This record gives sequence, structure tokens and C-alpha cells, in this order.
Amino acid sequence: MSRKYKIAVAGTGYVGLVAGVCFAEIGHRVTCVDIDEDKVNMMKHGLSPIYEAGLEELMRKNYAAGRIDYTTDYKSAYKDADAIFIGVGTPMLPDGSVDLSYIETVTRQIAESVEKDCLVVVKSTVPVGTNDKVEQLLKDFIINDVRVEVSSNPEFLAQGSAVHDTLHAARIIIGTESKWAEDLLMKIYKPFNLPIVSVSRRSAEMIKYASNDFLALKISYMNDIANLCELVGANVQDVARGMSFDERIGSKFLNAGIGYGGSCFPKDTMALVHLARKHGYELRTVKAAIDVNKDQKTILYKKACRRLIKFNGLKVAVLGLTYKPGTDDLRESPSLDNVPLLLEQGAYIYAYDPVGTENFKNKYPEGKIGNGSVTYVKCPADALKGADVCFIFTEWEEIKAVKPAEYKKLMITPLVYDGRNIYDIEEMQRAGVEYYSIGRPGVSLDRYNHITLAETAATE
Ligand code: UDX
Repeated sequence: MSRKYKIAVAGTGYVGLVAGVCFAEIGHRVTCVDIDEDKVNMMKHGLSPIYEAGLEELMRKNYAAGRIDYTTDYKSAYKDADAIFIGVGTPMLPDGSVDLSYIETVTRQIAESVEKDCLVVVKSTVPVGTNDKVEQLLKDFIINDVRVEVSSNPEFLAQGSAVHDTLHAARIIIGTESKWAEDLLMKIYKPFNLPIVSVSRRSAEMIKYASNDFLALKISYMNDIANLCELVGANVQDVARGMSFDERIGSKFLNAGIGYGGSCFPKDTMALVHLARKHGYELRTVKAAIDVNKDQKTILYKKACRRLIKFNGLKVAVLGLTYKPGTDDLRESPSLDNVPLLLEQGAYIYAYDPVGTENFKNKYPEGKIGNGSVTYVKCPADALKGADVCFIFTEWEEIKAVKPAEYKKLMITPLVYDGRNIYDIEEMQRAGVEYYSIGRPGVSLDRYNHITLAETAATE
């Protein structure tokens, strides 16, 4: 029987809440701390403040079993905890650096609360060296004569599969500076029965950025290749399939599309470039990934502009608003780059998303906006009815379920720009849809019209 520990978790966003719930699920006694009283009450009723499959079920189960509780009273949660995990937000500042103010506030609260020896574990994504700062802050502000150490334990969960990713993580990274801290973290994680990689604190902090930025780079690389595929008449999906058999490359994260979004990749790529610059180094590969991604997000809009010239007065169906399926998160979503461009031109947008609509309404309320307007609809068919053009930004199952023939039947002009390569090109062609996607030959008369005769001759 492994020992059960008393754990406190600061912050109840994706990182904190999911970690807290999963620690409770494997038997530890957990108290989640948040400053927002309404959120705490909600969670006590088994309601999750974030949209995440399977999370509420585990919240209710573990709350009923007395293994998890929620509070705004940080003192009571921290004072006798064996370990305090920090999972508060680390948003991006305008210059690309990381805002550590939430981490600092929580650290001071911990320093003034702890009454017994404990381990402070930084789970939030923080620049290399932050754990040292947290340790110094604790030393400066600690009140009681107790031993408090700091360790790093970055989180690798993806939104939409957060609970699964935590309970079945590929690896647990722990970054410690003492045997005591290493042993304690090993014991806390023992019931998960997962591979544990134990390194120094700074290496652990770096592993998080190096992993995320590598994945972002992989996507930008495929998007770059996709754009070249279009120019030379290759199909990026076939190219990816061919590449994927090489185990050194792997088969995941090779999907070209309309660019990566979310709360991690955009922030973590900027942060690493910023960190490198602070140390006098230019991180050229990651910088390139950022540049490619920026252009990729509006690539379909630019293609459509070349085809339609103007959107003024056109009915535009927008399918998918979130940055990926399985989440209501809009952060850095391609829809946020494209909708304002369409509105600026006077488009009448009919937007569909299975869960992201409410969040989108906060940014773009229903009705007239500038020269255009936004109307939110309850199913893809309502967006497509009478539309002149359709953009697909998210590969939700509800959107993938729309049959090629429906575009032809419902739209005035069956003209579709697909940022997620959902459809088979030939099927769309057979259905009579003019279909453009990413890195694949488009179904149109001007298939290779951007290659001039001179260029063709030069390559032959
Ligand atoms: C990511 C990492 O996967 C996770 O390990 C880390 O902790 C946080 O960042 P997340 O942002 O939830 O998780 O989503 P993910 O599924 O990784 O997708 C990120 C973005 O990349 C999405 O916009 C997605 O559409 C895009 N993507 C992903 C591609 O464009 N192509 C791919 O092949 C894979």
C-alpha cells in the first residue's frame, strides 16, 4: 500500500484542477485553492469551471468520497500540506515574456501559511530559473521555522483529453535539488505507475518548453511543406503518410492545417525565443515556427480573396470557432484571426460551433458589426443555407459529419475553404463542390494557375 499524502493545489484552471482531481482519484487527500468564491461553490457542486470530458464525473466521485475539497481559504489549505502544487496561470506579456505575478502572489501566500515541513511543486509552465526565484521568495517571506523546498513538475496534458493525459501520462518529469524532494515526489506519483524522469529543476523547466516548442515546430514544418506541396502539385497528406513510417519521424503531429492555437504552443514558443534573447541567443528554429504559424492562420482567407476579390454583402458560413475540437477554448484560435478580416470587408457571417459559441459571443456579440454582421446558428446546415462561401476552422465531429452533397445542396455557391483537410478531394469534386484545403490540389479550374509557364519551363 502506498502512502497517501495531504496535497494542496493552487489554481483551478486546466493544470491545477485536473492535477488535483487526478491526485484525489489515486487516493491522496486534496484541497484545491482558488480566489474566486463563485468558482469554488460551483466546484463543490460538482461543476467544472472548464469544459473537459470526464472531469466532472471524477470531481463528483472524489468529492463524495471526501478525497477532494475546494476553498478560497488558502491558509487552511497550505498550513499542514505535505506538498503544495502551484498550477496558476502564467500568461504572455505583450513582449512575449511570461507574467509571473500569479506565481509570486501564491508563493507569498504559501510563505505566510505553512506550519510544517512541505514541498512546493511548480506545475505551471515557467521560464528556466523560476523555481530558483520561487525558492528565494519563500526564504524571504517565510514566517514559521519549517523546511520548505521547491521542485519542478511540468504538466503535459492536452485540452480535451486532460484527465486521460494525466492518469496515463507518457512520463512524469520531476526536477529536484535534494534527495528529500525527489523521494517525496516519487512517492506521491507512485500510485500512477508511470515512468518517472528525475532531473535537475532547470532541466525539468526546460523539458516542458523544449517539448512543446518541438511539437509546434513539427506542425509549422508540415504547414511550410504543405504550402510548397500546393505550388508543386503534391498532396501533403500523402507526404505525411509516407514520412510517418520512419520511426525517427513518427506519425503524430504531422497534420498540416490552419496553424496551431491554444494556450500553450503560441505562448511557449514566444517565451522560449524571449528567454533565449535575454541570454544573448537567437533561437532561429522556434522563431521560424512562429513566423510560419502567423501566416498560416490567414492563408485560406488570402486564397479566398484571390478567388472572390470581395466579401462585401456575401453570406459566409464559418464552421468551427475553437482552436481545436473537444474544448470551448478560443485562445489563439484561427477563427479570431479570420472573422475580423471578413467583417472588415462587410461579410454576413453565420457561425457554428458545438461548444465555443458562448465564448465567441463575448468577443463578437450577435448582430451588426462594422459593415458586416455575425449570426450564431445551432447546426452546420443553418450556417450553410444560402451561403456564398464556407470556411472550416475546426475539425469537430459535427462538422466532419456534413456530407459533401450537403454543401452543394444548401449553399448558393458551393465554395468551401477547409483549414483542416477534412474531406476527400475527389469526393468533393464528385459532389460538385469547389473545394480548397491545405497543401492539397484544389478542385478548381485554376488548379496550378500560380505556376507561370516560365517557372514550369525552368523546373523541367
Ligand atoms: C498542447 C500539448 O499537446 C500539450 O502537451 C501541452 O501541455 C499543452 O499544449 P493543446 O494546446 O491542448 O496541448 O492541444 P494539441 O492537441 O497539442 O493541439 C495544439 C494545436 O496544434 C491545435 O491548434 C491543433 O489544431 C494544432 N495541431 C495539432 C495541428 O495543426 N496539427 C497537428 O498535427 C496537431
